[in-house]
Amino acid sequence: MSFKEIEFKVYEGRPDEFTGGAVLLALSEESVKSCDKKNSAFAELIIELAARKDFVGKKGSLMRVPLFNNNNKNIYLLGLGKAADINSQLVRDKLANAFRTIGRQHNNSLLLMLDNCVEIKADILYEAAELASYKFDKYKTKKSEDKDSNNKDDKDDNKFALSEIFVADKLCAKCSAKGKIFAESQILTRELANEPGCEINPPVLAEIAAAQAKEFNLECEIWDEVKLKAEGCGAILAVGAGSATPPRMIHLVYKPKNKARKKIAFVGKGITFDSGGLDIKPANFMTTMKGDKTGACDVLGILTGAARLELEDIEVHGFMAAAENMPSGSAFRPDDIIKARNGKTIEIDNTDAEGRLVLADALCLASELKPDAIIDMATLTGACMVALGKWRAGLFAKSKDDALAEEILSAAKRRGEDFWRLPAEDEHIEEELKSPFADMINSGPRYGGATFAAIFLSQFVDKDIAWAHLDIAGVDFFEKEWGVYSKGASGFAVRTCLDYLANL
Ligand code: BES
Ligand code: MN
Ligand code: ZN
Repeated sequence: MSFKEIEFKVYEGRPDEFTGGAVLLALSEESVKSCDKKNSAFAELIIELAARKDFVGKKGSLMRVPLFNNNNKNIYLLGLGKAADINSQLVRDKLANAFRTIGRQHNNSLLLMLDNCVEIKADILYEAAELASYKFDKYKTKKSEDKDSNNKDDKDDNKFALSEIFVADKLCAKCSAKGKIFAESQILTRELANEPGCEINPPVLAEIAAAQAKEFNLECEIWDEVKLKAEGCGAILAVGAGSATPPRMIHLVYKPKNKARKKIAFVGKGITFDSGGLDIKPANFMTTMKGDKTGACDVLGILTGAARLELEDIEVHGFMAAAENMPSGSAFRPDDIIKARNGKTIEIDNTDAEGRLVLADALCLASELKPDAIIDMATLTGACMVALGKWRAGLFAKSKDDALAEEILSAAKRRGEDFWRLPAEDEHIEEELKSPFADMINSGPRYGGATFAAIFLSQFVDKDIAWAHLDIAGVDFFEKEWGVYSKGASGFAVRTCLDYLANL
């Protein structure tokens, strides 16, 4: 995988004598303003730059001062903005941006000096550093390190060289290990979600899941199309019917050493490519649809993360509902009536509303295990993206499940992943679910499309089980690097779900 394992070490010497390559000073606006000649080895520089208004600590500003003295090859100044607005999410994201730039400017070693007003734990440093180092470049035949490549001026293409970061105090070992697991689980998800449809189809995804399960001692059961038929999973079969590669339902289990106090099930949408099916997407909506398997890849990241965290008494289940949505002579059609695992019939209004169908069978299976909670995640609706934008995901839960929603929102806050709660119940939208010929229809009118989808999903969840649905359509794929995110798949929700499990 294309990421760097970063080692954090303690540096006890004088900062201006650090010969490792680069020094990063992360400062609030107040600290820049009140910088006093006595308080730091770099005070004179900071005072001079502030006087010239070249660096005032503005949020996210990054300034490089090369060849500062004989020891320090590069000094970097990172602005954190106003002290009162600083929080762990801001620090994580701004540090990630700085680490990415510093790492690509040929620095392999860095001394990090954080403003006194910043109180963050080791997990955040690990997340920032390792996630920032990730890049999906396995298909580039000319690697970044080729110095003769013609785009050597493009800093994005420089190799990430950073491998050690020095800090003033010893980091907490437990937090460090946690942060590393959070980051690396999300990187595993990104690496898979970034693979194109010509590489990963449902059977391949199943093989990868099985191999990961073996490595991390997870139980793994895979249902192929024959078993799916015998088990009454007509919804996932319908979605996969048009593809040359058949669907797979992948069930992973993490069993703790001690008796389980709680059982949690995760369910992920794994459309390895979403062409829309017979209701085919226009060309500009079809690109990035290799990322429509992110929910399932998230689930794999969460399960491997749960195993690495060695959760003591939490049993974790993961369902990856994998199918490819393609148009062909064998594809499912509009007007078709299909039957899901729980016996409910669905009339197909639109074959592009396929995610909710594969999830339907998976949610039935998860419900049958009677877990304490079910959390599903899916790149489900363009409507959610229209509502919340491309940087925030939707969290849908019924009011009876407020407690679960709150727990997820708190975990998300700790991990700096933004979710916004949206309704999973609405009596008017519920009406739109009605079909003249079947128990329900798979898509409704344009307005409230994300809630319609959530209400559709709720038809397949046992009413007595707490349930939350995460719509990650907007945040699954980024065109630009920002904060801890690289270009391409984000693996959004993996760290939130792991943090939720770790705090149960
Ligand atoms: N995979 C898409 C949703 C999506 C859109 C994800 C953009 C990421 C970015 C989903 O299967 C889909 O096509 N949804 C349709 C549903 C509609 C036909 C009811 C949509 O949102 O347009
Ligand atoms: Mn679709
Ligand atoms: Zn889809």
